[in-house]
Amino acid sequence: MRVAFLGLGIMGSRMAANLVAAGHELSVWTRTEGKAAAWAVDLPAGDHPVPTVHDTPASAADGAEIVLAMVVDGQQVLALAEGLAADGGEGAGRLLVDMSTIGPESARAAATVIEATGWSFMDAPVTGSSPKAADGTLTIMAGGAEADFDRVRPLLDVMGALVLHVGGVGQGQMVKLINNAVAAANATALAQALLVAKATGADLDALVQVMGAGSGGSTMLNLKAGPMREHDYSTLFKLEHMLKDVRLCLEEGERAGVGFPAAAAAREVLNAAMGRGLADADFAALLEPLEGLAGIRL
Ligand SMILES: NC(=O)c1ccc[n+]([C@@H]2O[C@H](COP(=O)([O-])OP(=O)(O)OC[C@H]3O[C@@H](n4cnc5c(N)ncnc54)[C@H](OP(=O)(O)O)[C@@H]3O)[C@@H](O)[C@H]2O)c1
Repeated sequence: MRVAFLGLGIMGSRMAANLVAAGHELSVWTRTEGKAAAWAVDLPAGDHPVPTVHDTPASAADGAEIVLAMVVDGQQVLALAEGLAADGGEGAGRLLVDMSTIGPESARAAATVIEATGWSFMDAPVTGSSPKAADGTLTIMAGGAEADFDRVRPLLDVMGALVLHVGGVGQGQMVKLINNAVAAANATALAQALLVAKATGADLDALVQVMGAGSGGSTMLNLKAGPMREHDYSTLFKLEHMLKDVRLCLEEGERAGVGFPAAAAAREVLNAAMGRGLADADFAALLEPLEGLAGIRL
C-alpha cells in the first residue's frame, strides 16, 4: 500500500520503521530539516522498499492512499489537514488517519476541514510508550467510519497489538484521554507513596514488591517506580505531552459537567514540574515538585 507518514518523533519514527519493515511503500515528512533523511539512513537493512523523504507534507502525501500523522497537538493536526486540503491533490478515496493525541474537538475540526475536499478522516491515537512503538505492540483506538477502519486496519495491525474501533470521529481520542488521565493520577499517587515510604523509613524495595503483588499495583508502578527512585528522566513520554492529555481530558469532562478530581490534582503536579523546566523530561519527573513539597529526596 502507498502510505505517507507525517511526523518522525519519538513515536512516529518507530511506528514508521515498522511499516517499512512490513513491506509498505512509505513516503515520509517531519518538521525538522534533515531528520527524515537521517531516519531513513538508520533503518535496519532488509528486503523492503526504500522510503522516500519529502520536504513538505503535501509532497509526501502526493499519490498516497492513506496518510498517517503523528505530531503533537490539535493545532498541528489542523494545520496538516488544511495543508493537505489545499495542496494535497485530489482527495476522493483517500484517508487521513491522525494518530497523535489531540482530543475529540480537534479531531472533529480536522475531519471537517479535510472531508470538505473529499478525503475521509479517522482518529487513531495510541497508548504504550516508545518501547511498544518499537515492538509494534501499541494499543490503538480508532474513531471514524467502519469502512475506513477496515482500510487502515492492516497498517494498524503492524503498529499495534490491541487495535479497536471505538466509534465515530473523536471517540478514539476520548478513550485515549481518559486512559492517560488515569495514568497521570496513578503516577502522581506512586510518587507520593514512595516519598511517604522514604520519610517514614519504610523499606522501599519491599514496598514496591508488595504493591506489585496486589491491590497497590499499576502499570505506572511497573514502569516508573525504578526511574523515579533513580531520578532517571530519560524521555519515553514528554511531561509536557502528559499535561496536554490531562488538560484535554479535564476540559472534556467539564464540558459534560463531570469533574475528575484525581486528574485535576495530577495536572497541578505536572504544572509545577513544567515550572521547573521539565517539559521535555519523561513525565516520571513529576516526582520533582512532590519532593520539593515534601522537603526530601528519594
Ligand atoms: N511518547 C509516548 O510515549 C506517547 C505515547 C502515546 C501517545 N503519544 C502522543 O503521540 C504524539 C507524538 O508524541 P511523541 O512522543 O512522538 O512526541 P515528539 O517526540 O515530540 O514528536 C513530535 C512530532 O511532531 C513534530 N512536530 C513538533 N512540532 C511541530 C509543529 N509545530 N508542526 C509540525 N510538526 C511538529 C515533530 O517533528 P520534528 O521531530 O521533525 O521536529 C515530531 O515529528 C503526541 O500527541 C503524544 O501525546 C506519545
